[in-house]
Amino acid sequence: MILLDGKKTSNEIKEEIAKKVVELKSQGKKAPHLAAVIVGENGASLTYVNAKVKACEKVGFDSTLVSLPIDVSEADLLSKIDELNNDDNIDGFIVQLPLPDHIDEHKVTLAVNPMKDVDGFHPENLGRMMLGLPCFLPATPAGILELLDRYDIETSGKSCVVIGRSHIVGSPMSVLMARNTKVGNCTVTLTHSRTQNLEQITREADIIIVALGKAEFLTADMVKEGVVIVDVGITRVADDSKKSGFKLLGDVKFEEVAAKSSYITPVPGGVGPMTIASLMLNTLQAIDMK
Ligand code: GUN
Repeated sequence: MILLDGKKTSNEIKEEIAKKVVELKSQGKKAPHLAAVIVGENGASLTYVNAKVKACEKVGFDSTLVSLPIDVSEADLLSKIDELNNDDNIDGFIVQLPLPDHIDEHKVTLAVNPMKDVDGFHPENLGRMMLGLPCFLPATPAGILELLDRYDIETSGKSCVVIGRSHIVGSPMSVLMARNTKVGNCTVTLTHSRTQNLEQITREADIIIVALGKAEFLTADMVKEGVVIVDVGITRVADDSKKSGFKLLGDVKFEEVAAKSSYITPVPGGVGPMTIASLMLNTLQAIDMK
């Protein structure tokens, strides 16, 4: 079993990006500038956004964190987005999800200028992705492609099962794994809460990408020997032995599934850091799109 080390790989990518930033600056250009908008104080979201801002500092990007109160009106959030769209200083920005119930997530996604949409959530970017045109790819699926690529995992002709059909991971992931690209050319099955006989489907899979948000959902009896496992889940579970009061669990019962896997991502330290590295790569790409 080989661990797909997202932390190490993302650090390598960040070093590559840092070199590009030095190059840009030596040409008299400005550093890329990423802004992140967060609404409220959800612990997990705060952790992710802070990690994104810290990563920006590490590679020499400029970063701006926009923190809005949990009761911010939809109109005020949209007007902040408008401001970021029109701020020439900002190359790309994200609005951390989930948003509180009184805000329409679709309206927010549509309000972001597609040229600054480094999360790749705008329908224009998703449509361009479907057509194989240049676009911002959603950060988590793009990070998974990058990880599989850097570990030279053969995907062509393989059977890939994606569990979970969210707009930000499962659905785009299924499209990307089926494309005619180096990491791609899989026969993809997208499974979800209504799928029947899931175990039968996963037992046939060469590659399984789990993005369900249910701790330790995928067990050893559901996979075949030699499978490649990508675990997108990250659930906080109370644990008094930890200083934080919780531990992080993926969607995969790690020890027992790892024993049957050829490659597997850990949680934490697998997909999470790759999402951040992709966001940085997208922000660098945003400069070129200008
Ligand atoms: N919430 C969970 N994952 C993501 C992500 O990749 N981007 C944003 N903006 N919010 C998220």
